[in-house]
Amino acid sequence: MGSNGYLRLEHVTKQFHDGQGAVVTAVDDVSLTIRKGEFVTLLGPSGCGKTTTLRMVAGFEVQNEGDVILDGKVINDVPAFDRNMPMVFQSYALFPHLTVFENIAYGLKIKKFSKEVIRNDVAMACQMVNLVGLEDRYPGELSGGQQQRVALARAIVLKPDIILFDEPLSNLDAKLRVQTRNEIKRVQQLLGITALYVTHDQSEALSMSDKIVIMNRGKIVQAGSPVDIYNEPNSSFVADFIGNANFLDAVVEEVCEETIIVSLQGKSIEINVSQVDGKVFEGEEVILSIKPEAIDLSDIPTGFQGRLDVSSFLGASTELTVEFDGTFITIIHSNTNGIIHGMKMDDTVHISFNLSFFRLYKK
Ligand SMILES: Nc1ncnc2c1ncn2[C@@H]1O[C@H](COP(=O)(O)OP(=O)(O)OP(=O)(O)O)[C@@H](O)[C@H]1O
Ligand SMILES: [Mg+2]
Repeated sequence: MGSNGYLRLEHVTKQFHDGQGAVVTAVDDVSLTIRKGEFVTLLGPSGCGKTTTLRMVAGFEVQNEGDVILDGKVINDVPAFDRNMPMVFQSYALFPHLTVFENIAYGLKIKKFSKEVIRNDVAMACQMVNLVGLEDRYPGELSGGQQQRVALARAIVLKPDIILFDEPLSNLDAKLRVQTRNEIKRVQQLLGITALYVTHDQSEALSMSDKIVIMNRGKIVQAGSPVDIYNEPNSSFVADFIGNANFLDAVVEEVCEETIIVSLQGKSIEINVSQVDGKVFEGEEVILSIKPEAIDLSDIPTGFQGRLDVSSFLGASTELTVEFDGTFITIIHSNTNGIIHGMKMDDTVHISFNLSFFRLYKK
C-alpha cells in the first residue's frame, strides 16, 4: 500500500464503451495521495480524465480496477450520498425554484437537522462566503459569481470531509474568476477543508494548489508543488502546458560528467546534467525548452541573434515575439528595464538566455 494519505487512489482505472462499442480508457492506472487539509489540483488538457477521476472519488462513477481509500478505509462500495464529499460544478447546479437560503439548507434538511441548527449553520455559511443579505433571492436573481458562492456555501455547510471542484470558475469573466478563486482558497484554508480541484487553467492551478497533478491521456505525468512543476517540468508536454515554454532545436556536441555541451544556433552552450531529462548521446538532436521570462534582449552582442516580430506592451511587462533560428520565440521583458525603447519590427536583436533555466528533453 502507498503512503498514509487522507484520500488515496490506488491503481484506479476507468474504461467506457463509446457509441461504436470501442473501449475508451478514460483513467489509466492512477495512484494519488491527498493529505488532510491539502488543496490538490488535477490539471490537464480536455479529455485527459480529470472529471472521470473526480467522479470516481465522489462515487458517481465506479472504477473498473483499483481502490478509492478515505481515511484508511476502502470506500469503493459506499454510494455517493453516503460519502460526504460535495461537488461544486462549473454550471453551479443550484435549484432554480429554491431561494439562496433554501438551496444552502437543502442538504441539512435531508439529514433532518433541526430548524434552529439549519438557521445557524446557513447563516454562518452565508457569512463565510459573503452572501449576507441575499438569502431570500432566487438563483436567477444572482450574478454568476454569487451563484458560485451559493454552491460553495451549500458545500461547506455540510462540514464535509473533502470538497470536489470541477472547473468551478470557467463560466465567470476574468476579474470575477480571480476574486472567486481567492474566495475559495480563503474559505478552504480557514476551515481546513481537503480539496480536490479540477481545472485546465494553469494560473488557477499555480495560484491555488498545494500540489498539482498533471494528467495526459488518462495518466498522471507529473505531480508536485506548483514551484517544482513550474521550474522542473519532467517532459516537454508539462513544460508546454504549465509555462508556455519556448522549444528550440539543438544538437548534443559533447556529454561530460557534470555538463552537456549542446549547439544552439551554431554556438556551443553548457547545460548542467540536472537540467537534462534522460540520457542523451553525442550527435543526438534534442529539444531545449525555456520559459519566456528567462529570455531577454540585450544591448550588447550575446552571440545569439533574432529578428523582432511583434512587441506588445502589457503594462508591467512587454511581450515580444522574436524569430530565432527558424522558429518564433516569446520573451517577457520586464518594463523596469528600458532596453527595448526605440526598437521596432524587423530590427535585428541580440538575445540573452538565462542558461540555468534551460531544460533539455529528448525528441
Ligand atoms: N460516459 C462516458 N462514455 C464514454 N466515454 C466517456 C464518458 N465519460 C468520459 N468519457 C471519455 O473519457 C475521456 C476522459 O473524459 P473526462 O470527462 O474525464 O475528461 P476531462 O479531463 O474532464 O476533460 P474536459 O477538460 O474537457 O472536461 C474522454 O475521452 C471522454 O470522451
Ligand atoms: Mg471535465
